Amino acid sequence: MDNDVRIGVFVCECGGKISGALDVAALVEYARARLGVAWAEQANYWCLPGGVARLRAIIGAERLERVVIAGCAPRTHRTLFLRALDGIVPPPFVSVTNVRDLCARPHRGDTLAMSKARDQIAMAVADLAARPPTPPRVARITPHAVVIGGGIAGATAARALADAGIAVTLIEREPELRAHAQERLAAHPRDHLRVLTSTTVEQVGGSVGQYRLALSSGETIEAGAIIVATGEAESPIPNPTSKLAEMLHLPVDANGFIADARVRLRPTDRIERGIYVCGAAHFPCDEARAIFQAYDVAARAARHIQRGKIVNDAPFATIDATRCNGCGDCARVCPFAAITFESRASSRLAVIDALLCTGCGNCVSVCPVKAASVSSATDEQIEAQIRAAVHGSARLPVYLLFACEWSGYSAAEIAGARGLTYPANTRILRVNCTGRLSPGLLLKALEMGAAGVLVLGCAPGLCHYEQGNEHAAAVFEQADALGHLMGLDERLALKWIPPDDGEQFVQQVTDFEK
Ligand code: FES
Repeated sequence: MDNDVRIGVFVCECGGKISGALDVAALVEYARARLGVAWAEQANYWCLPGGVARLRAIIGAERLERVVIAGCAPRTHRTLFLRALDGIVPPPFVSVTNVRDLCARPHRGDTLAMSKARDQIAMAVADLAARPPTPPRVARITPHAVVIGGGIAGATAARALADAGIAVTLIEREPELRAHAQERLAAHPRDHLRVLTSTTVEQVGGSVGQYRLALSSGETIEAGAIIVATGEAESPIPNPTSKLAEMLHLPVDANGFIADARVRLRPTDRIERGIYVCGAAHFPCDEARAIFQAYDVAARAARHIQRGKIVNDAPFATIDATRCNGCGDCARVCPFAAITFESRASSRLAVIDALLCTGCGNCVSVCPVKAASVSSATDEQIEAQIRAAVHGSARLPVYLLFACEWSGYSAAEIAGARGLTYPANTRILRVNCTGRLSPGLLLKALEMGAAGVLVLGCAPGLCHYEQGNEHAAAVFEQADALGHLMGLDERLALKWIPPDDGEQFVQQVTDFEK
């Protein structure tokens, strides 16, 4: 492997948990001699203070630009290493690859364990080597909040924000605030609080931190945070909540209420949009609950504004303007409403809001003209990993598992942590979401020589990027049909798997290999 960038590989013995099953010195030597990295070294624990200090010293002395730490779970240790290397190596260039739970534990005593560990490290190096730079995106947060809806929830939230010293505008479409709301604001000094009645929000523009609201009065106001407290429709205007939900790109449930965002298990890659919902805009609720929610969202909005700026250094998708034909497929599948369109002479151009984008890759997999790409998982990066896996050190056919980080990969780690055994001629390629895959990538793996390709994703309804797994299923069908024409029957499979089911992971992988 010929790397243009200076990559370091740091293999952890993990107090014997890795070195008891794998020859760590041989892995270090392999990285140095065969992967062409600028530096490779082992330590008993890279994550302890002494290990971290040594890591920082080597990175500085050897001018390393990208780092692979081959040790334990990225889920538990990546944040620790990101903090330790803050200001030294940008987060996208710090890779933690789990040779403990993917190699040492499940394949202890297996003669193929070392080849899998070599290849998993080679895949991490290949991924980093091909990864394009991701400049951090920074946005200032306007120190002003808007609360829409002058009921008890809206008035409570507005007052709580004003009490916290944050300038707030309360917007009510009726000529007067409702009685309880008036009581709540009656004795409040108005230096931080402005109330606009007989006013509606007609349009919302801008982006995270700097929303621009065009009002029915003709005024345009800028806000760093928006609280929706509109409640149920009282007449047949279109429903104001639905209209607002559309303008703010908020999901609406079957009853017309604004649905909760499904942040569940991906809180760290979600940017705080600064848009909050409380009271009956969510669901019918009594006054006590509406007030409770209002205080909650006001506190969150205040914290968001007081941050002053947003920094997002997570991967994000981009559009190649020379290829985009404005078809709209990308916007249709984007779970974060991060894609809008600009007019061009003869068509339109998709534009991605880099602050809202989380880099899930759904847009990439559906783009018919390959105009979309995502900086954490470009085709080049994935192909480089496939190559490292398939043309690896075992010189045996390997089974490639495209594992969604939130299900297949997690289940693989759990299987390994519990010492469950499965075929060691597997190589695990982690993706954010199976929605990133394309028929071309799946077939490419077979074309390059993989014995089989198994895609492991979240069960229907449980994808962390809304419909990513549904796109994956469609992509898989296309690949399977093409594979059939090419005589590759039964070498491709797609399975849904719970994130905590190590036994099911072992069963699925073992069955597929057979
Ligand atoms: Fe697991 Fe989408 S996040 S398939």
